[in-house]
Amino acid sequence: MHVVLVGPPGAGKGTQAQLIAGRLQIPHVSTGDIFRENVSELTDLGKQAQTFMNAGELVPDAITVAMVRERLAKPDAHAGFVLDGFPRTLVQAQQLQKTLAELDENLDVVLEMKPDDEELVRRLSGRRTCQGCGRIWHVVYDPTSVDNQCDECGSSLSQRDDDRPETIRRRLEVYREQTEPLVGFYADLGLLAIIDAVGTVDEVTLRAVQALREAQSA
Ligand code: AP5
Repeated sequence: MHVVLVGPPGAGKGTQAQLIAGRLQIPHVSTGDIFRENVSELTDLGKQAQTFMNAGELVPDAITVAMVRERLAKPDAHAGFVLDGFPRTLVQAQQLQKTLAELDENLDVVLEMKPDDEELVRRLSGRRTCQGCGRIWHVVYDPTSVDNQCDECGSSLSQRDDDRPETIRRRLEVYREQTEPLVGFYADLGLLAIIDAVGTVDEVTLRAVQALREAQSA
C-alpha cells in the first residue's frame, strides 16, 4: 500500500507511521528523520538542511524532492511505503505524482491527521526520541519505565532541537501556510481520508487502520 500522512507538527504522524508500516511490513519514510540523520552525520545534505530546520522553515523543494525520489526508487519501497512529512508543499505533491507515475505506482490514500492546537504544543514539548532505534516516546503520554532510557533497545533518549516553543510556533505557521493547501489537492484526487488525531495512540491507530481498510476496498 502507498500511504501519505499529512498533519501539523505533533499530530502524531511519526508515531502512527511507525505502527502502520510495522503492521503492513512496508518502509516508513520520514523526510524529517532522513534530514536529522544527515545532520547528525554532518553530511552536505545535513549542513544544507540544518539551518532551515532549526528556524522551523521548510527545506527547499529541490533538495527535498531529489532526496525522496532517490529513496522511493529503492527496491524495498516498491511494495509500498508510509510517507511521513512529505509532501509538504504543492510543488512536492505534484513531483510525488510524477515520480510515482515514472515508477508505475499510485498513491492509495492520504490520511490527514487532525488534532487540536493546545494538544500539539503539549505533545511536542514532551516528546523524546530514542537515539538508538528511533522509537518516539512522550514524558507524560507514553513514558519509558526508566527515565531517559528506551524500553525497546535500552539507548538514551534525546529532545529535538526544533521542539523549542518559538520554533514550534513557526512550524505551526508554516504548516498552515504551505502544507494545509495539500488537503484540497488530495481531496480533488479522491485520495483524502480525515482522521481525528485526538485520543490515545491506540485509539488513533484504530481510526487509521479503519481508513486504510476502506481505502483498500474502494
Ligand atoms: P518532521 O520531522 O517531519 O516534523 P513535523 O512534521 O514537524 O512533525 P513532528 O515529527 O514534529 O510530529 P509528528 O506529527 O510526527 O508527531 P509525533 O508522532 O512525533 O520535520 C522536521 C523539519 O524537517 C521540518 O520543520 C522541516 O524543516 C524539515 N522537513 C521535513 N520534511 C520536509 C519536507 N517534506 N519539505 C521541507 N522540509 C521538510 O508525536 C509527537 C509527540 O506526541 C510524541 O512525543 C508522541 O509520543 C506523542 N503522541 C503521538 N500521538 C499521541 C496521542 N494520540 N496521544 C498522546 N500523545 C501522542
